[in-house]
Amino acid sequence: MNANQTKELVQQRYAAAALRVQSGSAGCCSATTEFPEADAITSNLYSEEESSAVPLAARLASLGCGNPTALAELKPGEVVLDLGSGGGIDVLLSSRRVGPTGKAYGLDMTDEMLALARENQAKAGATNVEFLKGDIEHIPLPDSSVDVIISNCVVNLSADKDQVLREAFRVLKPGGRWAISDIVVRGEMPEAIRANAELWSSCVSGALEENDYRAKLAAAGFAGIDLEPTRLYAADEIAPGAVDGLFASMFVRARKPSGVKVQVYDPAMCCSSGVCGPTVDPVLARFSADLDWLSMQGITVERYNLSQAPAAFVAAPAVQAALAADGTSCLPMILVDGEVRSQGKYPVRFTLAKWAGLSLPVPVELNVLAPKGCC
Ligand SMILES: C[S@@+](CC[C@H](N)C(=O)[O-])C[C@H]1O[C@@H](n2cnc3c(N)ncnc32)[C@H](O)[C@@H]1O
Repeated sequence: MNANQTKELVQQRYAAAALRVQSGSAGCCSATTEFPEADAITSNLYSEEESSAVPLAARLASLGCGNPTALAELKPGEVVLDLGSGGGIDVLLSSRRVGPTGKAYGLDMTDEMLALARENQAKAGATNVEFLKGDIEHIPLPDSSVDVIISNCVVNLSADKDQVLREAFRVLKPGGRWAISDIVVRGEMPEAIRANAELWSSCVSGALEENDYRAKLAAAGFAGIDLEPTRLYAADEIAPGAVDGLFASMFVRARKPSGVKVQVYDPAMCCSSGVCGPTVDPVLARFSADLDWLSMQGITVERYNLSQAPAAFVAAPAVQAALAADGTSCLPMILVDGEVRSQGKYPVRFTLAKWAGLSLPVPVELNVLAPKGCC
C-alpha cells in the first residue's frame, strides 16, 4: 500500500469513528474489530477532573494513547498545537491551561472529526481555540509561531514521519517543546504485524522503534530528546503475534534549540564533570545535573576541562585573557553566547536559567548524585 492509500484508510476509519460518536452509537475505537482488547490503549487516560471539564462527545471521541497535556507543563499565554486533534479533547484541555492570553490550535485532516471538534468547542464555550483542516505533514501555520506541540497517538499514523518532524521543527519557536504521546515499539516489530494494513490505522503497525524515534527527532534538529513509557501492553492487548511489553505508550519530549549557548570552562579535573572517584564534591554533582537540565530545555551546553581540552581555553579570547590576568583562580568560567557571566564559582540552576533566558520558576530539586566508582 502506498502513502496515499494508507492516509485514505486512516481517514475513513476516523471519519467513521467521528460519525459514530455524533450518532451516539459508539464509545472509543482503537481496536481492530477482531481484536477489541486493544481498547486497552485508549481507556482510562484522563483524570475525573479532566473528564468533567470537557463535553461528553469529546470524551467519547477520545482515541489517544496518553495524556500529553498533563505532561507538557503548559503555561498561561502559550500557543499550543495538537497534531491530529480528533474530537478535540486535548485541545480543550490545553485551552484551559494556556488561558485567555494563550491559544490552542487543533489540526486534523478528517472533515467529520473537525465538525465534531468544533461542536465540542461550542459546547465548552472555548474562545481561545481554533481547529484547522490540514495534514500534519504540511502544517498550515507560519514558521516559529508555536510554543508547544502536543499530539495523542497520531504520529504513528503518518507514512512520512520525517516530514512531520521537519514541519513541527519549522513551526516551533526557538526553545519550543515537542511533548506528545505515541505508540512506540521497544525492539523489532514482528513482520506479521508490520504487514497488516488494518493495524496501521489502529495505531500499531506504523509505530516507530524507540531508537529510530530518537534518531529521527535528532535528524530534524531537536535536542533534549527523552522517551518515557507511560503504559506497557501485554501481547493480547495489541494484536496476534505481539510479545508482552514490545509495544508501549510513551511520552516523547524534545526541544527546538533556543539558540542560546552556555559554555563552561572548568579547572583541571580528573574527568569531564568532576563527578567520579570515591568522594564527590556535591557542588559539582549538582552543577552537572543543572547542565543536563539546561540542555533538556533546548540550551546548547559546551563544557571544557582544562586537563582534557586545553586548546578550547586558548581558542576563547575572554578565557585566555582571564587566565593571563588571574591564573586558574578565574576557573570555572561561564560564558553565555560568548559573554562572560561568572568566574571562580559554579552558579546555581536558578541563575543559569535566568542567564539563558528561560522562564521561571525553575524546579528547585537538586539532583545530587551518589558517589560512583572512578572514571
Ligand atoms: C487516533 S486518532 C487521535 C485523535 C486525538 N488525538 C485523540 O487523542 O483523541 C487520530 C486522529 O488523527 C487524524 N490524522 C491521522 N493522520 C493525520 C494526518 N496525516 N494529518 C492530519 N490528521 C491526521 C485523524 O483524522 C484522527 O482524527
